[in-house]
Amino acid sequence: MFITIDGPDGTGKTTLAHALAERLQAQGIPAVYTCEPTDSELGQHIREILRKGGYELSRLTELFTEDRARHIRDFIEPHSRQGEVVICDRYKYSTICYQHLQGEPVERLLRLNGGFLPPDLPVILYAEDAGLLLERIGRRGLGTDLFESKKTIEESIRLYRKMPEYFPREQFFYLDATLPREKAVSLLLEEVLKRLQQ
Ligand code: TYD
Repeated sequence: MFITIDGPDGTGKTTLAHALAERLQAQGIPAVYTCEPTDSELGQHIREILRKGGYELSRLTELFTEDRARHIRDFIEPHSRQGEVVICDRYKYSTICYQHLQGEPVERLLRLNGGFLPPDLPVILYAEDAGLLLERIGRRGLGTDLFESKKTIEESIRLYRKMPEYFPREQFFYLDATLPREKAVSLLLEEVLKRLQQ
């Protein structure tokens, strides 16, 4: 089974992804955490480019796309085939959201990314209140990156809401990021178990 967790910054994707993997493992269901950009050389190169700036946007989009294609081929598909639940922290929806916010037309992003393996459970964490997300990001104390201004978060909330329009065949599961963590994990676990039985 292939699960993706996406959403605006500050929604707690990474924590939730790890918590879900632990809960599944506790039930005897093998689960593995992974993320995009990946930890490969290419993924690290992307993170460095994001930090330093000065890149060409269309090139950055292509790098994200290439990193994803390799990730699917070398990690996601082999692990899913072995019967593991693969939990991926950010996926193609991040490219649609963030590279569009940077100026790429959605059509081009969908042309490059639309065909990538549809997850069995694409989760989108959402929050109505951008201010709350910004507060959380501030508390992490890592400094704010490129995408972490209030306006950008508001726009990313709006774009993430539109994902079912861009991917009409994918069965999104929207999860309220402001719920207490245990509650969010339980709701998600319930959904995973339901889809595992389908
Ligand atoms: P990540 O390390 O997951 O950051 P965070 O912990 O804030 O979620 O991702 C690094 C950055 O890469 C993040 O700001 C979002 C951005 N990103 C894109 O712009 N496009 C993409 O396709 C992906 C996967 C990430």
